[in-house]
Amino acid sequence: MGKFKINGGKRLYGEVEVHGAKNSILPILAATILNEGVSVIHNCPRLKDVDSMIEILEHIGCKIDFNGRDIVVDARDVKDSEIPDNLMRTMRSSIFLMGALIARNKKAFISFPGGCDIGHRPIDLHLKGLKKLGVEIEESYGYIRCKGVRVRGNEIHLDLPSVGATENIMLAATLADGITVIRNAAKEPEIEDLQNFLNSMGARITGAGTNTIVIEGVKKLHDTEYTIIPDRIVAGTYLCAAAMTRGELTIVKALKEHLEPLISKLKETGCELKTGNDYIKITCNKRPKAVDMIVTLPYPGFPTDLQPQIVSVLSIAEGTSIVTETIFDNRFKYTEELVRMGADIKVEGRVAVIRGVDKITGAKVLAKDLRGGVALVIAGLGAEGTTVVEGAEHIDRGYESLEKALKSVGADIVRIM
Ligand code: EPZ
Repeated sequence: MGKFKINGGKRLYGEVEVHGAKNSILPILAATILNEGVSVIHNCPRLKDVDSMIEILEHIGCKIDFNGRDIVVDARDVKDSEIPDNLMRTMRSSIFLMGALIARNKKAFISFPGGCDIGHRPIDLHLKGLKKLGVEIEESYGYIRCKGVRVRGNEIHLDLPSVGATENIMLAATLADGITVIRNAAKEPEIEDLQNFLNSMGARITGAGTNTIVIEGVKKLHDTEYTIIPDRIVAGTYLCAAAMTRGELTIVKALKEHLEPLISKLKETGCELKTGNDYIKITCNKRPKAVDMIVTLPYPGFPTDLQPQIVSVLSIAEGTSIVTETIFDNRFKYTEELVRMGADIKVEGRVAVIRGVDKITGAKVLAKDLRGGVALVIAGLGAEGTTVVEGAEHIDRGYESLEKALKSVGADIVRIM
């Protein structure tokens, strides 16, 4: 159980670079097994979830070489189609092996995935979509046995624009017979990244980034070399850290088009933001102002994965803000820890009312999930006194050496084991 110890009140100042996107690399690593060959991927972040995905891929027969931020996956010898429960439980993204193994081996034997405890996280839309492609699915004793002797293209309408279900269906449909159309597809940039990666291997997919994705099944894919997009949630996290400390940060390799909702809300708090084609500069000279309303929505709405981080900023804002979480049904748990630090936050179901206080004070707090955990680090940066955030392993799932990055721009933060 690692911890972060933070002495608050230091203004962040300088430049920080954003690493590759966690929510791109995870489905893309699963996608590498669709090619009985070698994939080279650049800008791969060093994250706990990446290590977990590497363990799964090696378990089924891949050979992996991970140097710096370059990862080479040799998927010529993928024999096994079974993922043990302990590996499935490490994260939500293990579920992508279902679609990928069906495409590669026409079968998969998995259990239910793990992932952040932020509410009910069913996989019914994944299973419904794969069944529409002709995959036989039997669920028993906590295991899911999939057999897709003949995976055929079909029209699939998603009840919800689920990111994972969209990606899993894309994976299974890439080598299917015929054309698959996904309607009400999720539009996140990471889905476009997955489409571009698959197409770089010879797949024929169009429409990612819109609500209709068309996948024309192909017989075979080929080797590729690909660079993934920067992590918009990590970039947004740094922007919130600057706002919390009345700092001035330039976030390098951040794509403004992926962060419009956050940029607009931070401007509403009174921060000044300037953007270029691959950077965002934020300057905050005074106490942030409250924002009347934030509602998390599927992309391009305000991202649920930045909801905890901006709530930390709003906890010291001038005035009262209301934040509604429409994606997950239990994603405000971290606010109990913010209240320990003196925040005034009332949560009723999916709505949080944040009455800004003049200051919050350091305390010992517990990270229970990835983004809620990093929100506590942000709170510690702006708090008076010392904060110890326990449960650093949750944060390491999505942030590469967070303490080094923050220290490089003036934070007083250390990792203690
Ligand atoms: C992805 O999770 C991301 N994870 C999440 O990021 C992100 O919060 C989420 O998309 C929404 O943007 C990865 O990409 C690895 P969903 P996913 O399927 O695919 C319901 C982070 O912090 N649903 O879009 O699990 C579900 O319960 C993580 O990086 C069903 O009902 O999200 C939720 O309410 C956290 N049935 C909503 O849809 C299903 O079969 C959105 O879930 C699938 C989902």
